[in-house]
Amino acid sequence: MKNSWDIDTLRHYVQEAALHSFTPYSGLPRAALVLMSDGAWACGVRIENASYSLVIPALSSALVSTASIGRKDIAAILFSGPAKQEEKNAILQTVTPSLDQLDKDFFGTSGRTYRIGNQLTMGKYFSKPIDPNTGIRLARHAAEYADIPESNFPVGAIAVTDELQYFQGANIEHPDWTRILCAERAAIATAMSAGASNIRSIYVSCLKSTAASPCGACRQVLYEVAPESVVWFDRGSQPPRCFRAKDLLPEAFRLTNPHRASP
Ligand code: THU
Repeated sequence: MKNSWDIDTLRHYVQEAALHSFTPYSGLPRAALVLMSDGAWACGVRIENASYSLVIPALSSALVSTASIGRKDIAAILFSGPAKQEEKNAILQTVTPSLDQLDKDFFGTSGRTYRIGNQLTMGKYFSKPIDPNTGIRLARHAAEYADIPESNFPVGAIAVTDELQYFQGANIEHPDWTRILCAERAAIATAMSAGASNIRSIYVSCLKSTAASPCGACRQVLYEVAPESVVWFDRGSQPPRCFRAKDLLPEAFRLTNPHRASP
């Protein structure tokens, strides 16, 4: 960091972002900020799930959001509180240049000067409600950002809010398959990390399979964070399929008394 003002500014951003976390099970808000080599930055929030292991950790949210717009040049990482061991492990196992822990919540390269530029992944706005073809066209474009060394199976998604703000996601893979996120969850994480929780529709494009539809993990996440949303699924030459999110997972598991932990 150039000076303490810079890191305090980033701390402020990441702590504000933590307010957008979806943590009904732990009650513990969490966000991570990724700073790119040119100073552009983005936050990701923790999105918990009644299946627990389907949680999207804050750092994963930040990394899939930025990867989904083609940015992977991570220069530093900052958390909304002291880094936890699993977050340190994730940094080591993530395909970024190795970053040193420079402070309790800050990872970067010592001696390096960083600058703070624009916020990435803030979404864009449609000026009027869109037709399915427009959403699908954008989802097909999003699929161009898929990072798919494991599957060579590109998927793209666009999450659109009630305010017609929209966010891009692509499937971002990892050598540890348990860390792979589908395009749908990448778009949801991007939207929620930007504070847009009222997702109205999700457009998904998956041109390599005529039989694809949202996976079970995405259905559980959708059920919890956007049950009233509508999912449009594009499989290329066939007409798009349209589902209501809550119909995709009948009799879904949920925790009735979720708020277990106290901070
Ligand atoms: N995938 C998605 O992104 N969305 C779907 O609806 C189905 C599957 C991804 C996950 C993995 O990266 C690859 O496609 C193969 O399953």
